[in-house]
Amino acid sequence: MPKLTEKAAWQALCEHQQEMETTEMRGLFAADPHRAKHFSLQFDDILFDYSKHRITEKTIQLLVELAEQCDLKEKIEQMFSGGKINSTEQRAVLHIALRNRSNRPIIVDGSDVMPQVNAVLKKMHSFTEQVRNGHWLGHSGKPIRDIVNIGIGGSDLGPLMVTEAMKPYGHPNLRAHFVSNVDGTHISETLKMVDPETTLFLIASKTFTTQETLANAHTARNWLLQHFAEETAIAKHFVAISTNTEKVTAFGIDAENMFEFWDWVGGRYSLWSAIGLSIALYLGMDNFEKLLAGAHKIDEHFRSAPFEQNLPVLMGLLGIWYNNFWGAESHVILPYDQYLHRFPAYFQQGDMESNGKRVTIAGETVDYSTGPIIWGEPGTNGQHAFYQLIHQGTKLIPADFLAPVISQNPCGDHHQLLLSNFFAQPEALMSGKTEAEARAEMEGEGLPTKRIEQLLPHKVFPGNRPSSSFLFRQLTPETLGALIACYEHKIFTQGAIWDLNSFDQWGVELGKQLAKKILPELDSQTEVASHDSSTNQLINYYCQQKNK
Ligand code: F6P
Repeated sequence: MPKLTEKAAWQALCEHQQEMETTEMRGLFAADPHRAKHFSLQFDDILFDYSKHRITEKTIQLLVELAEQCDLKEKIEQMFSGGKINSTEQRAVLHIALRNRSNRPIIVDGSDVMPQVNAVLKKMHSFTEQVRNGHWLGHSGKPIRDIVNIGIGGSDLGPLMVTEAMKPYGHPNLRAHFVSNVDGTHISETLKMVDPETTLFLIASKTFTTQETLANAHTARNWLLQHFAEETAIAKHFVAISTNTEKVTAFGIDAENMFEFWDWVGGRYSLWSAIGLSIALYLGMDNFEKLLAGAHKIDEHFRSAPFEQNLPVLMGLLGIWYNNFWGAESHVILPYDQYLHRFPAYFQQGDMESNGKRVTIAGETVDYSTGPIIWGEPGTNGQHAFYQLIHQGTKLIPADFLAPVISQNPCGDHHQLLLSNFFAQPEALMSGKTEAEARAEMEGEGLPTKRIEQLLPHKVFPGNRPSSSFLFRQLTPETLGALIACYEHKIFTQGAIWDLNSFDQWGVELGKQLAKKILPELDSQTEVASHDSSTNQLINYYCQQKNK
């Protein structure tokens, strides 16, 4: 097998990039009045317009050839059929099974995983109904009013992002809170808002060994016991979501109150599992199942649609184009919907923990760039913060714009104002403003010639800056599920082309190991000298100041 950079399609894309170097999108639009139609795709109510990219039919054809030469089709099949594609951990990767609404058997180690998936969904159903109906009572007999999810990374970001995005569907008498940071401020500020008699803690941790989560869980437990002074209260106020029954029971949570998931669910792909219990409690199981159904539809599409018409594959290929052939370092996600304010943060973990790797599956160091830096904020806030750099800076930053046609909060002309910006920004990025246009504009304003010459370079927008637009009817659970699955499979597509294991995360280990070593040193009575001089200095300064 030739190396990625030696593949025929890769070489052809390098040459093609040279041809495209001087091609302007403005010209491409002028030459083809149907360009938008040629480079867009509709999936259910989602219109995906990828015409504002530095692409022609040939670009897509070559990118598709690259995907084929990297065996993307076979790799997708391996995932869907339960292959152990997370090779370093020898695990299958089956978040798709969690939302497999067709209930088709998916076999791992000789047995179908669907019965266990369905059993947990059933348990979630009965539990969420009890809590939501007020039948699940706290230790003093009061119904639950606040849910506090304690978890971090994949055991926090997904549920947090979805409950925020789905606020209009939330139970009127329930509030969802999320505690992740080991900084005591996070749990302390949350506990100030809740009443021990009406609060349910969900301890969400795949491994049930994560330091941050256990520290926060112990603090919550102590807080509850300070109020009730009876261990039996735990059973009514604590549930666990984990793959590790032993550690859950050792913490003091009854296995009855544990919602199980499995090692073939990656942390950052786990919101579809029992890790989504906070979502199901807040939105109701019917809405949680709609979220699963939206994702399942995209799974089917990803598995079966030809690459040229495959939404997540196209997203992935466009990313490869800029990352590997134009030197783009980052990718910005810009939701024009306040409810999606944690969407970029969610995919920071989703993408960067998956494809932030520098060796191939076989362990060889890559000679090409891999996972991009993912960032973003909701529009229009981003416009007044960092868009300056996207429009006129020296960096190429492909952007995703996302917006709903229908607002969940129709008030005055807010939504039209928002959407006018959603339409204007990609247009401005693509078309820019030439010197002649900037000059004519200032002349029209009656500015003196000298002032015009002085301002001219500052007023020019180079344009030709790429973006995709996702316009969907409304942010419903189905649509949100579909959008999340699109991004997940985009990450898969890119990982498959870069020949990475997108499902492990060894890169987070070293820092954890060092923190473990440092923790006892923070109580040391003598000068710490076991590290480099900078780390020693910082620790010693800390110890000296705190003991003053
Ligand atoms: O940050 C590393 C990581 O392992 C993530 O992959 C995971 O989502 C997070 O920690 C939390 O892990 P756990 O669910 O086991 O507490």
